[in-house]
Amino acid sequence: MARKPVVVVGRKLPSAVEERLLRNYDARLNPDDRIYDSDTLLALCNGADAVLPSPTEQLSSAVIAKLPDSIRIIASYSVGVDHIDLQAARDRGIVVTNTPDVLSDATAEIAILLLLGAARRAAEGDRIVREGRWAAWSPNFMVGIQMTGKRLGIVGMGRVGRIVAKRARGFDMEIHYHNRRPIEGESARYHATVEELLPHADFLSLNCPLTPETRHLLDERRIALLPDGAVVANTARGPVVDDDALIGALKSGKVAAAGLDVFENEPAIDRRYRELENVFLLPHIGSATRETRDAMGFRALDNLDAFFAGKPPRDRVA
Ligand code: DGY
Repeated sequence: MARKPVVVVGRKLPSAVEERLLRNYDARLNPDDRIYDSDTLLALCNGADAVLPSPTEQLSSAVIAKLPDSIRIIASYSVGVDHIDLQAARDRGIVVTNTPDVLSDATAEIAILLLLGAARRAAEGDRIVREGRWAAWSPNFMVGIQMTGKRLGIVGMGRVGRIVAKRARGFDMEIHYHNRRPIEGESARYHATVEELLPHADFLSLNCPLTPETRHLLDERRIALLPDGAVVANTARGPVVDDDALIGALKSGKVAAAGLDVFENEPAIDRRYRELENVFLLPHIGSATRETRDAMGFRALDNLDAFFAGKPPRDRVA
């Protein structure tokens, strides 16, 4: 009988995914769900054929350079691949795949939750009720910003951005977007640059991948282009936002409120966010639904199955 390919699995995965992994592969699972540092990950890769990492496993160029020659594919359990140096993988002839599509609905739900939660002061209201600080109904109490009918700017009209637009239309929002290229058949108004988009964004949703070009995309200069009192949501990657600039704008009121699911250096987020009432903070749960987490695992396994069957994996990114 042919030997099963050996797969190093970065994190503990949903049980249905691990069951399928164990049926078809010699899987080196992580039952205690430890976060592997680079040395541990490299040691586990000895004699393995594939790695199935999550965004918590950093496959920098230095780590990829030290992977054993036996590793032929990195099948990430994520759509974002900013934790993997794709060029370093290409240079070593290692195939890289991701898990697009399957998490778009779940992530778009969180984007809408953040926009609404920030605008309508959901976290602040929850704290007031929990802490017994709710005195009485009053016309001026907890007044927020209405989302219905406002203009929504979307940076990154990929799979998630398009679903955010679709959901936002349910709130009668006027949709504007920036993308590298206009999307054929998209009725929302296209802006060729982020700078052109921002003045139209009463609400702003960041949905672009993290690349060298999008690092600190939302900086002080660009925030100044937003309408006063804009609401910002980030479900992309933390470093797309310059924290100093956003925190300054939240303090001054230039940005009325922000909803953030992702952070630079997460989970060690900029502590100043914790002190602000006008931010709605979530712990990177964009894709965290049962259906989606299973689907991400199955999609990563589909990629591995294709690769080891000698076929092109569907989601090859390098
Ligand atoms: C991804 O897949 O890139 C997500 O950030 C994980 O939720």
